[in-house]
Amino acid sequence: MQAEIINAMSPDAELFQAYSNRTQSMENRSMQVPRGDRRTVGQATVENPKVRCENVDIFYDLGEKKAINNITLDIGQNEVIAMIGPSGCGKSTFLRSMNRMNDTIEGCRMDGKIFLEGKNIYDKDVDVVPLRAQVGMVFQKPNPFPKSIYDNVAYGPKIHGLVRTKNQTDEIVEHSLIRAGLWEEVKDRLDKPGTGLSGGQQQRLCIARTIAVGPEVILMDEPCSALDPIATAIIEDLMDELRKEYSIVIVTHSMQQASRVSQRTAFFHLGDLIEIGPTEQIFLNPIHQLTQDYITGRFG
Ligand SMILES: Nc1ncnc2c1ncn2[C@@H]1O[C@H](COP(=O)(O)OP(=O)(O)O)[C@@H](O)[C@H]1O
Ligand SMILES: [Mg+2]
Repeated sequence: MQAEIINAMSPDAELFQAYSNRTQSMENRSMQVPRGDRRTVGQATVENPKVRCENVDIFYDLGEKKAINNITLDIGQNEVIAMIGPSGCGKSTFLRSMNRMNDTIEGCRMDGKIFLEGKNIYDKDVDVVPLRAQVGMVFQKPNPFPKSIYDNVAYGPKIHGLVRTKNQTDEIVEHSLIRAGLWEEVKDRLDKPGTGLSGGQQQRLCIARTIAVGPEVILMDEPCSALDPIATAIIEDLMDELRKEYSIVIVTHSMQQASRVSQRTAFFHLGDLIEIGPTEQIFLNPIHQLTQDYITGRFG
């Protein structure tokens, strides 16, 4: 609903006007949750979550350094949830815990539980290879394999044993490229290298590659920061389309982007989840003083 309201207005100018009107009126209001209070404000859980993170702590350097502090947060079905906060607050670290990418970082340890559809992904019997297909990841810098456009998308389904015949592979490649909004632009040059595409096309190719292995959740870590505004707008539109089928978690340093694409927003600060709520509320009516300071540009 929130995305519709935002989309219905012409983009950022009006949104910023709305922010600043609200901000001005907030200056006069009685105090909110004070800066020093580190407890999460807002509704962190949802009914029937896709992913449930419970009391997650994450440490680097063999426990010397704590990057994420006791975070409990649900990811809903068919939602885009945005994670915002100043650089170094732990957004990427927390995101990576949802498909166990932190396992690949030496000296990184996590406590707590993360359930995907009710199953703790940190249980001993969980195989991370299929897990990372179920919970796919798109990175800041598009990273297509040095292979053809076709093979970039076909590779995952092949190694995960999702396809047996050339026909099935063709179908999955076409379907994934259609879902990623790239098919029309590449259907006549599928045999050309993926690295020859523009940055925005490469990012959509990476999204197609993620989709091809049948994910349930797509994690995106600043997926548009290397893209121009037009490529960014295409990806943002795509996210709204993709959430019909998937849950999407996006880390972004752009508050405009968070307000355009997400239904809920989580604000992080120094490893703590400070505030979580409907995106519109977080940006127009934040409850925690730190959230307000951040969205009004007082730090970050
Ligand atoms: N591989 C690593 N080893 C040690 N410390 C790390 C590593 N990755 C991140 N950190 C630290 O963890 C904290 C959170 O980092 P990060 O998750 O990248 O934040 P964000 O994505 O919000 O900018 C920072 O203090 C960062 O320096
Ligand atoms: Mg990061």
